Amino acid sequence: MDDTPIDPAPTTTAAEGTTGVSRRRLLTGGALTVGGALAGAGIGVAATGDSGGPTPDPGQARPKEAAYGAQKVPFHGRHQAGIATPAQAHGVFLGFELARTVDRAALGRMMRLLTDDAVRLTRGQAALADTEAELAALPARLTVTFGFGPGLFKAAGLDDQRPASLTPLPRFPIDRLQDRWSGGDLLIQICADDPLTVAHAQRMLTKDARTFARLRWAQRGFRRGRGVQNDGVTQHNLMGQLDGTANPPPGGDIFAKSVWTDSGPAWLRGGGTTLVLRRIRMELETWDAADTKAKEFTVGRRLGSGAPLTGTVEADAPDFEAKDKLGFPVISEFAHIRRAHVTDDRMRIFRRPYNYDDAPAADGRPDTGLLFASFQRDIGEQFLPIQRRLAASDLLNQWTTPIGSAVFAVPPGCAPGGWIGESLLG
Ligand code: HEM
Repeated sequence: MDDTPIDPAPTTTAAEGTTGVSRRRLLTGGALTVGGALAGAGIGVAATGDSGGPTPDPGQARPKEAAYGAQKVPFHGRHQAGIATPAQAHGVFLGFELARTVDRAALGRMMRLLTDDAVRLTRGQAALADTEAELAALPARLTVTFGFGPGLFKAAGLDDQRPASLTPLPRFPIDRLQDRWSGGDLLIQICADDPLTVAHAQRMLTKDARTFARLRWAQRGFRRGRGVQNDGVTQHNLMGQLDGTANPPPGGDIFAKSVWTDSGPAWLRGGGTTLVLRRIRMELETWDAADTKAKEFTVGRRLGSGAPLTGTVEADAPDFEAKDKLGFPVISEFAHIRRAHVTDDRMRIFRRPYNYDDAPAADGRPDTGLLFASFQRDIGEQFLPIQRRLAASDLLNQWTTPIGSAVFAVPPGCAPGGWIGESLLG
């Protein structure tokens, strides 16, 4: 689990926003200039009154125990939720481009507003001016995680506060990047165990973001449905591989020293991290043509058990020195796990990927792959050397093609009353 403290019960009154700003002031623009946000959203204040939307009827009969729907992940804490949080079944990554007029003050207003939405929604409460309050009632472990792309620092006039390696990744020979899946000034990652919850949160947040920014891309992904397997087991991706085995375990020492940023600009240190999001297409038609042996040779692990080719169970450490009868390495020099492996724990990355499977082409060819999300304290020190080695020679490249790429600094979490990004923009 996340090492964030338990979210205290809301202490604010019904008329007070959870970030310490009253709803009346939010709605009328007295504290924040959100009048435009509401107008842009096509929602009149009169339509919802001052209550921020209809409140679910407390007497309304609800099932006693919604299996997973009622579960909440605390929003507040040293780190943002949605990173160390065990990956929920559904996720969407939203990449926004800031409007030209947006400056540091506007960014502050935007982040206060979006934080307020996220606090409410993750608690199972309606967002500001939420006309479908009933959809907010089951958060299903909803997390909302914000990230700042390189362009946000420019817009804020704070380019000197940008982590040095937070720049678009260099182009790799394996890349076939498309603009429509790349770049972005602001990231909102929304994850929950229920797709309806994700869709509702996406709508609320997008509505409030759109006075300040336009949506550049939305990338939707999924993992196994919650309850289909025991929590905590490694899941298969759409190539049939167990994906996530060698991740540093969230909450542990290795995770702490490889994921939470401890150098560079002070505002990010301690609680923050960075995210690389790569949209990687899987060439499943040709992958289908490979036999199991070839597939396992490619990665260096077995498909069924996830065990390394030198071991018998998933947890066995790969033996990169082992040779076969002919003297060849059992785990190929070009196997994905050998090329991606790092020995220094501080250099490890934390992968939190989602599968995607969009509409097949007219001829039936799949549009399938991985939303490869990698969290690390520093992109230049950790992600880039691994990606360079993989781009140079990795057997998996035959069947995978990066088609999108984006990088973000992920600000620390905040305490009740605070807002995400305050240490940079406040
Ligand atoms: C569609 C693309 C990809 C697929 C299907 C894939 C799949 C896998 C699989 C099956 C494993 C072995 C089990 C595990 O430890 O999770 C693995 C390991 C790993 N992958 Fe990938 N991967 C992909 C892209 C990438 C990229 C782009 C990077 C980083 C730049 C990366 C970094 C790693 C690392 C660090 C490991 C652990 C290596 C170790 O054993 O120490 N992978 N991947």
